[in-house]
Amino acid sequence: MSGNYASIVARLMSGSRCSLPVVLWSLVGCLLMLRIYSLLPHKDALSRELQNHPGKHFVDLREFEEEENLRIPPPRGKRSPRATKRRPKRMTTFINEFLDDSSQLRHIFFPDIKMAIDPTKHKDNDSSYYYPGRIWLDTEGNPIQAHGGGILYDKRSRMYYWYGEYKDGPTYHAHKKGAARVDIIGVGCYSSKDLWKWKNEGVVLAAEKTNETHDLHKSNVLERPKVIYNENTRKYVMWMHVDSANYTKASVGVAVSDSPTGPFNYLHSKRPHGCDSRDMTVFQDDDGVAYLVYSSDDNRELHVGPLTEDYLDVTRVMRRVLVGWHREAPALFKHKGIYYMITSGCSGWAPNEAMAHAAESILGPWATMGNPCVGGNKILRQTTFFAQSTSILPIPRLPGYFLFMADRWNPANLSDSRYVWLPMRVAGLADQPLEFEFRFPLWQRVSIYWHKRWRLPHGSSG
Ligand SMILES: *[C@@H]1O[C@H](CO)[C@@H](O)[C@H](O)[C@H]1NC(C)=O
Ligand SMILES: *[C@@H]1O[C@H](CO)[C@@H](O)[C@H](O)[C@H]1NC(C)=O
Ligand SMILES: *[C@@H]1O[C@H](CO)[C@@H](O)[C@H](O)[C@H]1NC(C)=O
Ligand SMILES: *[C@@H]1O[C@H](CO)[C@@H](O)[C@H](O)[C@H]1NC(C)=O
Repeated sequence: MSGNYASIVARLMSGSRCSLPVVLWSLVGCLLMLRIYSLLPHKDALSRELQNHPGKHFVDLREFEEEENLRIPPPRGKRSPRATKRRPKRMTTFINEFLDDSSQLRHIFFPDIKMAIDPTKHKDNDSSYYYPGRIWLDTEGNPIQAHGGGILYDKRSRMYYWYGEYKDGPTYHAHKKGAARVDIIGVGCYSSKDLWKWKNEGVVLAAEKTNETHDLHKSNVLERPKVIYNENTRKYVMWMHVDSANYTKASVGVAVSDSPTGPFNYLHSKRPHGCDSRDMTVFQDDDGVAYLVYSSDDNRELHVGPLTEDYLDVTRVMRRVLVGWHREAPALFKHKGIYYMITSGCSGWAPNEAMAHAAESILGPWATMGNPCVGGNKILRQTTFFAQSTSILPIPRLPGYFLFMADRWNPANLSDSRYVWLPMRVAGLADQPLEFEFRFPLWQRVSIYWHKRWRLPHGSSG
């Protein structure tokens, strides 16, 4: 972008006679350069620490370069002449391998139980490391069941609570052409002080087993539960996507509890602002106002609207954002007064490319900044590391660093879906100009860094 301005200025200057436009354009150029300079990452305490203790920091630059050794295995059995003639696109092939539960690459996407992250076994060297994609055990040695989830930091108990879909049941297809599903079991809750060792607090909102007309009857759909705390009412409020098995109900549900570990009392479901609502999240701003963000108009756009003061309902205010972008799985965060959002494309359980978006006002307009994934290899970056965004948590005491939480869905066995948690940073120049205005954006680049293994810097959690 700066090159464009420089060349405009250069062309104007080459007209030799110094005219008013030339002076003005030069001035504009200088101001833009200053703006760019102010956005460049400056040496802060963190980068000094990085220089002094490179190995100690979780952003290990050597790992950025490390590539997963992904190779497409030779085709099994006979292929149709048409298939052999048409050279498959690498990306499609990898996604097919990912979706094929008999693929030879299975162990790369879904490492088996022997590789599980197990906080009950205290090997000093292995402690506190995240291994994205591996089975993750709780403090009782069982795989964590908190899919499509989010984390609440509870100031009162100084604990983290991770809520998500408890999917420990059989995967089946309700209709021949229907997507793979698991009956609703409920919302699982896990507690932790360090974001690594998680204690199972049980199912805090359970499915309805007998009443078939109930929203949470096991034959329906409950996805993406998120919990926020309301300081005024002192209630923990859960919002979730509630749907029928064929996804035509497209509603949001609300439940409430006096305790972070439930039990949550289910209140009702509705179509917010009279619109269909599928993937969703809630975001609590610094000023205590909370917002519902949901995919609507058959996922063509997102809607953003503030909740009522008690967080139990939406208000009448709603804005349509990212219209025509077809995004889902929204995860929001705020940094230095700017709102950011990561979304995925809409391709069912199959992974796709993430996008980062930014806005000065949460109600929009939102600009799209491109794919935030960094490191690994192209296939990993273009599939969001074979995962889908679900939530983002600021890393305590590390301004500008966030924990990016994503789900690696396993459509053959949804209960065996994995978690992909990675460090995310907001720093440096945004690499795309604003689409809707001729000016530089106020925001910075969002980068989600691939790591096979990483951990939070000592003392940053809790
Ligand atoms: C721990 O790691 C260090 C260096 O990475 C290594 O020398 C040592 O053998 C490891 N210890 C164990 C018990 O794995
Ligand atoms: C079943 O659920 C519906 C909707 O929540 C409710 O109106 C009804 O009273 C319930 N029936 C029984 C028998 O609990
Ligand atoms: C979807 O399911 C609901 C009941 O769960 C049913 O009333 C509706 O007719 C179904 N719609 C389609 C298009 O199958
Ligand atoms: C699905 O995964 C779970 C682990 O979460 C495992 O216990 C179960 O046996 C698997 N089911 C099938 C059919 O492979």
